[in-house]
Formats: sequence, C-alpha cells, structure tokens
Amino acid sequence: MERLVRAVQDLSRVRSVEEIREIVRHAARELTGADGATFVLRDGDQCHYVDEDAIAPLWKGQRFPLHTCVSGWAMTNRRSAVIADVFDDVRVPVDAYRPTFVKSLVMVPIRTDDPVGAIGNYWSTPHRATAEEVQVLQALANTTAVAMENVRVYQELEKRVRDRTLQLEHANQELSSFATSVSHDLRAPLAVISGYADLLRLTSAEALDEKARSYLQQIPVHVMRMSALIDDLMRLAKIRTAELSVTSVDLTALARDIARQLEAAHPGHPVRFVAQDLPPVKGDEPLLCIALENLLSNAWKYTQRTNGATVVFGGREEPDGTFGYFVRDNGAGFAAEDAGRLFVPFQRLHVAADFPGTGVGLTIVARIIEKHGGRVWADGTPDAGATFHFTLGLPE
Ligand SMILES: Nc1ncnc2c1ncn2[C@@H]1O[C@H](COP(=O)(O)OP(=O)(O)OP(=O)(O)O)[C@@H](O)[C@H]1O
Ligand SMILES: [Mg+2]
Repeated sequence: MERLVRAVQDLSRVRSVEEIREIVRHAARELTGADGATFVLRDGDQCHYVDEDAIAPLWKGQRFPLHTCVSGWAMTNRRSAVIADVFDDVRVPVDAYRPTFVKSLVMVPIRTDDPVGAIGNYWSTPHRATAEEVQVLQALANTTAVAMENVRVYQELEKRVRDRTLQLEHANQELSSFATSVSHDLRAPLAVISGYADLLRLTSAEALDEKARSYLQQIPVHVMRMSALIDDLMRLAKIRTAELSVTSVDLTALARDIARQLEAAHPGHPVRFVAQDLPPVKGDEPLLCIALENLLSNAWKYTQRTNGATVVFGGREEPDGTFGYFVRDNGAGFAAEDAGRLFVPFQRLHVAADFPGTGVGLTIVARIIEKHGGRVWADGTPDAGATFHFTLGLPE
C-alpha cells in the first residue's frame, strides 16, 4: 500500500509522459515483486512498448498490432488478462515470448472506459497473479490514466500560452513598426507645411493684409500641436511594448518630486500638495513615474481656475491585502456619466480653450497600470474635483 501511495503522490506531480514512464515502470514491478514490468501506450492500432523494468530485456521500443499482443487484448477488451502459462494461452504471441524469460504475466489496461495503454507484469517462474496483485496494478493504471490526462491538459495549456505569447509578440512588433512608420510619414509632410509657411512669411508677409497674416501665424501653432500628438502616439506605442523592469518603488517620494517640479513650472498657480507616507511597492519605476506625472499634472491643470487648489496623493490597504492609491483634487471635476471616456485615447471632457491637452495622458496611465496587473478608475463631480484611483497587481 505504501508503495502505491508513493506512486500516486509521484504521479500527481508529473508534467510529462516521460516522467510517467519512469514512475510507472518501477512502481509496477515493485508493487507485485514481479521479475519485469512494461509500460505500453496505444498508438493508433498498434501497441507501443515504451518502457520496461525487468531482469532481462523484454520489448522496449517495439510495436505490435493491437490484435496480436496481450496488451492489445487488454485494451480491446477493457479488462485485465491473467496468464499463468504463456505457452498455453491463445492470446499470447508465443514467438515474441520465446526469446524472453517470461513464463507468466498479468496485463491491466490504462483507463478502462477508453484504454490509452496498458501495464504488464512478468514472472520468470510459473505464477498465477492473485486478485490482490491485479487490483493493485489496476489502481496504479487508473492513477496513471489521471496523470496522463493531467499531462495532456497541462501541455495543451502550455501550448496555448506559447501561442498567445507569440501572437502578442507579433502584434507588439507590428504595432511598434506601424507607429514608427506612421510617425515618420506624418512628420515629413508636417515639416514641409511648416517650411512653406515660413517661406510665405519671409517672402510675402508684406504683401498680405492683417487678417491673412494672422491666418499664417496659426499654421505653426497647429503644426506644433500635431507634432505633439505624434509624440504622444509614439509614447503610447512604446509603453505598450515596453518590458517591465521591476524594483521596489517609493511612490510617495516620486509624487513629492513630481509635485515640486509642477510647483516650479507653474509659479502663478499655488497648489497645496499633501502626500501620505506609503510603504514601497513592486513596480517599474520609470513607468510608474510617467503614470504619476500624468495624474498629478492633470490635477494641477484642472485646478487652474480653482481658488485654494488642493491635491492629495494617498493610499490605503484594501481588505484583500492589496494597496489602493489615489490622486485627488478639488478642481474642475467631471460628470459621473463621462467617467467611461476618460481613459480612451484622444477623448477629452473639457475644451482646449479652458484646459489645453491632447487627451492621451490618461490612456498612458491606464496602459501602465494594466501592465502592472492593476486597475485604474475615477470619480468626479463637476466643479468640485476628481479622484483617480489605481491598484498595482504585482506581488510583494
Ligand atoms: N483631474 C482631472 N479633473 C477633471 N477632469 C480630468 C482630470 N484629469 C483628466 N480629466 C479629463 O479627462 C480627459 C483626459 O485626460 P488626459 O490626461 O488623458 O488628457 P489631457 O489632460 O486632456 O491631455 P494630455 O494628453 O496632455 O494629458 C481630460 O481632457 C479631462 O477632460
Ligand atoms: Mg493629461
């Protein structure tokens, strides 16, 4: 029994048919104390003697038609064959046995409802396998059947993961070469437009009236805007394909750094900034920095018209042990029904005249958080402020 339990435990951990072979051929022999054991797999209408453990060679590596060997009989009839004298049983192909030591044998099918193989035990002296020996071998065969099914499922899953990874890599490559060529193809005519506008200004400004000159001035403004859009697209494509390089990250320190930079860049817009001290988290520091920069610069931007602007960075441990973070401001806010559009590229809830921007920042934030296995969402109230929440899914 102990030997059977060990075999069952070993079989529950296997990941390949080779491991099953190794476990079964030894266990089968040791369980009954036989002089030899074989592990046979069905291969179409043939029996493949894949492995053995015996006092002398049996048929390892050979194949026999299903209807000419004892393992084939056990598989076809879905039951065990107990043969006390191999030279006195019609099921035995005597010629195959003559060169071996075998006098007696027992063969049990692996998976009785639809056999996929068989396990054989052989004796060099006349021996009629007892009911207990047959039972114990059948128990091993049944566990082998489960292990083989597990291996099949495991290998199928592995293959799917491999296929998916390949597809993703392919899609990523395509995306990044698409982004590169789009950005190149868009920039070239942009440079030409800009160049002609310059030429026009230099050569013909005098000939134009006031109105026409103001039209002309608009061209470089929009050329720059389009150039910024292309930059954003490129950044988005790069983040999508970036590999995470994970370290321990102090988000509080990052947030304070970014806030200092925003304060320096917007001296005319005083903001009270509060950052809670939070424990470090596992993540890709440069990417998390980009995410925080986008969230905090939005908070700065959308409080531009708010007196007593306050921005808070904080977090707390959720009941499931993960950490939830937030960036809160008391600025322009947004209507709850618009929350779904926030993270969609180029979607903006405010007009550029009030608050300039391209509408890509939050898409970048969402990509970065998703790459970390986390989630990002927001709630807001018009003219009262907005809170952006996120979690990071990497294990500590
Ligand atoms: N803190 C906030 N308060 C109110 N609305 C916000 C806030 N952050 C983002 N939004 C809304 O979500 C939209 C998308 O934000 P996102 O950061 O993606 O773009 P953006 O700030 O307009 O431009 P940019 O690409 O330069 O960041 C914004 O246009 C704005 O309407
Ligand atoms: Mg933004």
